[in-house]
Amino acid sequence: MRWFRRHGRDLPWRRTRDPYRILVSEFMLQQTQVGRVEGYYARFLDRYPDIQALAGAPPAAVRESWAGLGYYRRAANLHRLAREVVRDRGGVLPSEPEELRTLPGVGPYTAGAVATFAFERRTAAVDTNVARVIRRAFHPRLAPSGSRRVWDTAALLVPRAGSAAWTFNQAIMELGALVCTARVARCGECPVRTACATGRRTR
Ligand code: ADE
Repeated sequence: MRWFRRHGRDLPWRRTRDPYRILVSEFMLQQTQVGRVEGYYARFLDRYPDIQALAGAPPAAVRESWAGLGYYRRAANLHRLAREVVRDRGGVLPSEPEELRTLPGVGPYTAGAVATFAFERRTAAVDTNVARVIRRAFHPRLAPSGSRRVWDTAALLVPRAGSAAWTFNQAIMELGALVCTARVARCGECPVRTACATGRRTR
């Protein structure tokens, strides 16, 4: 967490706790890299500053705002989600991961991410970056199908206090994006290598 405070990137969705803005960022980041998302994110939020604005927009306009990001199903799901939340929940996103999961396009990762990044819930959010860090650190021999085990370990690691949970989840994600990357584990630069099964074996 200390490493993250120093080296974590200053990203627009890390400067807000607005659930709608966090949700939009997580939908965009589902299949697209941070660098590509940033510009689209700002423009999308200019056009649809809140969930009511998005819910009221025609599908063709939403699709057009998503043009360039690809994987349009994400946009269609986000739009359906906005309509559903405005119609059934007064425009208020739920904060419980289990409830978030019932919304269109929201899987276990996105539910955890919105719960912790918007509501500072003490819950895990395991995307591919986080899963890789946890495997390398704690389960270096676990089969690729062992995602349940990875989620269980992630849940044990999350700090008890909400604001620390937010920082921890951002930090482990950032570690996977910047240091413990898919191509190479840069153990020499890693702040947690002494606590890591892979790092301890690397000089
Ligand atoms: N990918 C998904 N969520 C992210 C976040 N909060 N920061 C950086 N990359 C992400």
